[in-house]
Amino acid sequence: MRDYISKIGGFFITFEGIDGCGKSTQAKLLQENLKNLGYDAFWTKEPGGTDIGNMVREILLKYNQEIDVLTEFLLFASDRSAHSKELIKELSKGKIVISERFKDSSVAYQGYGGGLSINFIERIHREITIIEPDLTILLDISPLVSIKRVRDPDRIEKKGTDYLERVRNGYLILSKLYKNRYVIFDGSKEKNTLSKEILEVVENKLKAYFF
Ligand code: TYD
Repeated sequence: MRDYISKIGGFFITFEGIDGCGKSTQAKLLQENLKNLGYDAFWTKEPGGTDIGNMVREILLKYNQEIDVLTEFLLFASDRSAHSKELIKELSKGKIVISERFKDSSVAYQGYGGGLSINFIERIHREITIIEPDLTILLDISPLVSIKRVRDPDRIEKKGTDYLERVRNGYLILSKLYKNRYVIFDGSKEKNTLSKEILEVVENKLKAYFF
């Protein structure tokens, strides 16, 4: 996979973490900071990085009844399938692509959080996409901080602290499995301090990758 990525060019960065970890703020600050340094940085997000994805997002977050975990995963997967084509298009132009969430969100939320088979999630992803992040920034916070920060919870955010704890642990397991691409940051830090720390790590990775 990594070979393929280097052939299509670009550098793929994902932001992950439980709800309220600050990834939207940090992803956008990173894009701005990279642009100021002269990099061509493209920002996107899941769910909802495409028109189809936005429709799927409406179902996933606004539908106010139970959705079983398999259906939930397949909806996120359909969003990702459409989104992945966009990501490949931008990476092929040599851009630095910053995505809020990608495959690891499904593994952490539907897999570790919801109990869906992780092998199954991985198997579907092999059909959905050929890309893997070059760098994953995990903004780690506790479920208590999450609950305090999220004011108007959507369907997934209403699942409670036990669920969030499982999702958080899932991310921590992923960070050990994929040590080469994961960097963990303390998401409870002040936003400008955190964005400086993130930029430093990203710049070093980019220098090692491109030069
Ligand atoms: P989120 O990043 O919180 O979007 P926003 O900040 O715009 O509300 O994502 C919405 C929710 O979707 C969040 O609770 C995580 C969940 N989610 C999954 O459960 N699985 C997935 O594969 C993805 C991409 C998101």
